[in-house]
Amino acid sequence: MKIPFQIAESNFTLVLFGASGSLAKLKLFPALYELEKEKRMPKDYAIVGYARTPMTDEAFRRFFEKAVRQQEKNPDEAALKRILAHIHYYTGSYTEQASYKTFLKQLKTIEKNPSRVRLAYFSVPPDAFPDIFKNLATVNWNTKKAPLRLIIEKPFGYNLASAKKLKKALQKNFKPEQIYLLDHYLGKEAVSNLLSLRYANSILTTLMTREFVSNIQITAMEDKDIEGRANYFDHVGILRDMVQSHLLQVLAYLTMYSPRTKTKSAIQHEKARVLKSIRVGKVVRGQYMGYNKEPGIPKDSQTETYTALKLLLKHPLWKGVPVYIRSGKSLQKKWTSVVIEFAPRRPQRETPGLPPNRLVIQLQPHEKIEFHLLTKLGGKTFDFHDLTTGRPIYCSGDCLVEHGRLLLDAIAGKQGLFLGFEEIFAAWRVIDPLQKSCDHARSKHCELHLYKKGSLGPKAADELIQADGFEWFNSTS
Ligand SMILES: NC(=O)c1ccc[n+]([C@@H]2O[C@H](COP(=O)([O-])OP(=O)(O)OC[C@H]3O[C@@H](n4cnc5c(N)ncnc54)[C@H](OP(=O)(O)O)[C@@H]3O)[C@@H](O)[C@H]2O)c1
Repeated sequence: MKIPFQIAESNFTLVLFGASGSLAKLKLFPALYELEKEKRMPKDYAIVGYARTPMTDEAFRRFFEKAVRQQEKNPDEAALKRILAHIHYYTGSYTEQASYKTFLKQLKTIEKNPSRVRLAYFSVPPDAFPDIFKNLATVNWNTKKAPLRLIIEKPFGYNLASAKKLKKALQKNFKPEQIYLLDHYLGKEAVSNLLSLRYANSILTTLMTREFVSNIQITAMEDKDIEGRANYFDHVGILRDMVQSHLLQVLAYLTMYSPRTKTKSAIQHEKARVLKSIRVGKVVRGQYMGYNKEPGIPKDSQTETYTALKLLLKHPLWKGVPVYIRSGKSLQKKWTSVVIEFAPRRPQRETPGLPPNRLVIQLQPHEKIEFHLLTKLGGKTFDFHDLTTGRPIYCSGDCLVEHGRLLLDAIAGKQGLFLGFEEIFAAWRVIDPLQKSCDHARSKHCELHLYKKGSLGPKAADELIQADGFEWFNSTS
């Protein structure tokens, strides 16, 4: 079947606030280069970096080029040359209105044709958001073609209260169709595929319910430490950084009802329904040994670099099925996966140590899907062993890195892969009580369990799942 490749549906200008920073360098520049290389860009587009660090257009182009070369060892030189011709830079303040006015004048000299979409990408720390919102609203950034679109990276606030404040600040000046709340996990094919796999395969539609599933495990392990991002990470911790948005979104895609329509509100509504049904059972918090000796980390830091959670859903499909989530830094390997374990049958009940049937959907480092079945050992007796059958999931259609895909959607005005406030608030309602009790009191779940770098995490996380008669599944590949 011929797949229509998504291209930028309109001429556009992308203004990158915080273009001198880490997200821009690591994710956005390589994604934009890929769009040019894959011929997804329109003829007329402009990428304009906006930040306080003084840089000329030329210096910014070198900065952009270096970032791309760091990720792509053999870049397409012609594509790189083409995209650099579309790149500009403005040294400006986030707080002073005058800076925006001067910038807008400069923008008009860059944009030859006013019939285009303008997007503002917030690649700055959240503290800087309110000033930028206010100043963008005082200067008219709308174009003939469309009102300005704002793309805002997760995390959305620091807790429920700040997320509500963010919504208020945005809604004061912008309409819902202008607001694009981005969690890059939703741009990953493997994450959307969780829902598609369930509803396109009758065996999974039938089996993935409380009747057959004994437990679900969602794992996101990182082998890297905080990589010098002390200020950011120590303030946030793994619960907010990984669980609040990325992993609760994975859980939502895995367990939600198929939306009635493909509209943004139908998708967001079904996800929010799952997230609202979550009850937290137990929590384990961990910290890797040596974290408090990292540059910039206070010696007495109580920030968790690891967490394991037991969740229960009051959702009709999943009532009574425990969901275990774990995520951490400086662990044995990089591994993101979803494991669905099926209830034991007679052989497993009668033979201790015989593994359950499992469906393993691996998202990182490579996408693959595995079924773990039991097969009879040869001979007269009915003895069994594990039969693993699996395949890599190759993207064979319209394949793009996540920020590229999401940018094309924003240019087209499609919001289906972006988040809604209802689901963001629901996720904060899960995380907030855990954080609050650790901020103000040392309750039992706030205990920090130290773990060795390169291990699979603290022992307490094993005990959390073992208490229910299960074991974490740790892939060997
Ligand atoms: N890095 C990632 O992989 C990643 C992943 C997911 C989400 N995010 C989110 O994306 C946003 C940007 O992340 P980042 O890692 O690129 O941040 P960053 O490198 O710390 O900051 C980006 C730029 O913002 C400006 N900036 C820094 N601190 C500021 C402050 N207190 N007030 C105003 N401006 C400030 C700096 O530019 P100038 O000084 O030149 O103006 C800096 O180069 C954040 O909201 C972050 O939470 C990042």
